[in-house]
Amino acid sequence: MKATIVLLPGDGIGPEVVHEARLVLDLVAARYGHQFVFAEHLIGGAAIDATGDALPTATRSAASRADAVLLGAVGGPKWDDPKARVRPEQGLLAIRKELRLFANLRPVRVHPALAHASPLKPEKVAGVDILFLRELTGGLYFGWPKFREDGQLHRRAVDTLEYREDEIHRIVHMAFKLARTRRKKVTSVDKANVLESSRLWREVTNEVHAQYTDVALEHQLVDSCAMRLLTHAKQFDVIVTENMFGDILTDEAAALAGSLGLMPSASLGDNHIGLYEPIHGSAPDIAGKGIANPIGTILSAALLLRYSLGLHDEAEAIERAVDEIITGGARTADMSSEKPLSTAEMGSLIRERMAEQPAAARAS
Ligand code: IPM
Ligand code: MG
Repeated sequence: MKATIVLLPGDGIGPEVVHEARLVLDLVAARYGHQFVFAEHLIGGAAIDATGDALPTATRSAASRADAVLLGAVGGPKWDDPKARVRPEQGLLAIRKELRLFANLRPVRVHPALAHASPLKPEKVAGVDILFLRELTGGLYFGWPKFREDGQLHRRAVDTLEYREDEIHRIVHMAFKLARTRRKKVTSVDKANVLESSRLWREVTNEVHAQYTDVALEHQLVDSCAMRLLTHAKQFDVIVTENMFGDILTDEAAALAGSLGLMPSASLGDNHIGLYEPIHGSAPDIAGKGIANPIGTILSAALLLRYSLGLHDEAEAIERAVDEIITGGARTADMSSEKPLSTAEMGSLIRERMAEQPAAARAS
């Protein structure tokens, strides 16, 4: 197949990890007979430096015409001034909104060989397999009014947590559908004992559930869910929640697996265009050193193949290679302090392992 993939390396370690993922995609193209056309564009701090805008028009239009977008990370101390008019993160929020990517999928799986690297006891985390669905274009991040007011007596700031029923509807439907391909359990997370928006969330979720009676549904309050992720993580299958709760809980859950550097994500909407990115940030402290873990981005490329291009075998080939090299002991510095591999070494190890896999079925 022929597909156009927009690469947005962004800031910090973004360019280093996106480079490795691109090499993996090149290998997939060669082995399976696909043609991937890559176009690289600016986002975040790099885009602010070059154009004054965190999501320049050229990036916007290339992304909306692409089949899929692969992003590294945005942000860094250089652009951190809280008074700055433009911030790198705005680029990320704007592209999610622009492409109408309302569902952020964040799988958290603990590789058996890494269970001991978790901050929790290995027996608590071995076997954890959770799929988070974070609502991505609503809630506090986008609600209106949103403003800051510096009055004569005091300063005041307002953010608004708003959800319309259709926004809840579509993400919860997706959660039930995905649960059907897994262990058929959905945990919906809210703060219905306090928030009006959460009470609506719970009500709509129950209504949608009537169409998926083969899937078990439970509701959990966000504070209790945060605790249960540490005490009973294995009980979760699909977790669906609003934007900000999802932001916080997915970082917490990613830590279970020993390193944030391993975790991929997919942001999807109604059409096939998706945005794929590791869940780690730009890690400015290690940027340019060649030691970042490329696995989160490489696994994001696998999700890209699966969800935007429908290339399931190809996605699995990448995931299998990553699993195998981790089993074999390959580690970057975030995973182990003993003889860690560089970003490039980790990338080539994964590609070598893929090249050793049985000959790929050629796509027609
Ligand atoms: C994430 C990040 C972003 C978010 C930031 C960088 C705007 O934390 O993707 O989880 O909060 O959505
Ligand atoms: Mg986050």
